Amino acid sequence: MTAQTLEPQQADEYARHLSQVNKKNQVLATEDIFNEQGALLVKKGTPLSEQLAERVIRHKLTQPLEHSVNLSNMIDAGRLRKGFEQLFEQYPDCRQVHQELRLQIRLEENCREYTRFPLLMQKLTVLAMQRPHDYQKGLFCAWMALALGQQMQLETGQVTAVFLAGLMHDTGMLHISTDILEKEGELTTEEWRAIQSHPRIGELFLRNVPGLAPEVARATLEHHERRDGTGYPGGRFAESLSTEGQVIAIADSLCAIRMLRLSERGGNLASAIPILQINVRGYDPDAYRAAVAVIRAGELRVPRLVEDARMPAFIDGLLAMYERLNRCFAGVSDVVGQLPEESPNGKIRSAALLAQHAWFAVASSGLLSQSLKHWISLVKKNHEQDHYANMEEVDVLQQEVRWQLVQLRKALNTLHSERVLAGAESAALLELALESLQALDTP
Ligand SMILES: [Fe+2]
Repeated sequence: MTAQTLEPQQADEYARHLSQVNKKNQVLATEDIFNEQGALLVKKGTPLSEQLAERVIRHKLTQPLEHSVNLSNMIDAGRLRKGFEQLFEQYPDCRQVHQELRLQIRLEENCREYTRFPLLMQKLTVLAMQRPHDYQKGLFCAWMALALGQQMQLETGQVTAVFLAGLMHDTGMLHISTDILEKEGELTTEEWRAIQSHPRIGELFLRNVPGLAPEVARATLEHHERRDGTGYPGGRFAESLSTEGQVIAIADSLCAIRMLRLSERGGNLASAIPILQINVRGYDPDAYRAAVAVIRAGELRVPRLVEDARMPAFIDGLLAMYERLNRCFAGVSDVVGQLPEESPNGKIRSAALLAQHAWFAVASSGLLSQSLKHWISLVKKNHEQDHYANMEEVDVLQQEVRWQLVQLRKALNTLHSERVLAGAESAALLELALESLQALDTP
């Protein structure tokens, strides 16, 4: 399946992944594999070597390749449970939440449920061997989705659907060229489009798994959609998104916050709450409330990361960022008025929504208020150690708003380069906004 054509019968990168897996876990053709013209490509019972994979990849098959192969030594319920155990070892804060919410029995039940679907076992095993980081993310999302599903009192079938969607949500990546996924440096629009097709690829595969609830495919399709229309691949809005999809969306966000951003800084799940709070508009209200409740159940202490001796210099950094963010917002405020939220043009609508999202974030957090600046300055001047933890929280929020402004800048750049806004006045305002957003790059 190529990102451009999205045809499940077209053999693609997945054939190469299978041939690599075959070096350790034998991958055998369970039937003769033909191309659409009826030519035999692989004989039943043959191991899928690299050479055969290269032959298969040039063809459109009579059915998706995954349906014609069998993998030995797949991840079963026991190995899946072990995967979760390792996740908890790496993230003790998740273990604490897991224990407080008494999730173990449900987790074990759902690990067993997963083994009803050999196709899911095949895909997940290939993911674990070929893209172990994505496998880890799948485990995190499945666990978080389970916790959210329980907290939201979803029905048993829905909880299983979000658990399985959490595990499988990024398996579409296995069909995208590794050259694109591992490319260093800037991606072309075409390459971005290919990567952004992974939810659709995942959905197509899951839709064809016999006996699997359709909600698993749908949640996978929607895991990068946002209620305010700023997500992908559809840019769809709240009313057209499923509960299961919104659960995976927030679980995936928490996964990125916890496994990437907070791991670099040394935070824990509790440090994610302020980030969720200022992004609340992007999430389903019920899923958001459940996420905060799940994290709070762990009674985690937010760890201090900056030593007291380094705090004055750290606060200077906060004050500098305060000025930069203020400069950015002063520059974008005029152009935002020119971006109608109801515009029929999706690019204008998306930029308007991103801007609103950022405004909401600063308004709800008070990040740009004079009183905040005054308070930060006083904490520094009087060495108020009791407030040093709050200073670290201000940093987390500033970085989040900065990230949102980077997204807004991308959207405004598109409007600028494609000359989407009509009128000289709008164009001038857009240039002014982009100029003020240059403050984001000031070290
Ligand atoms: Fe994804």
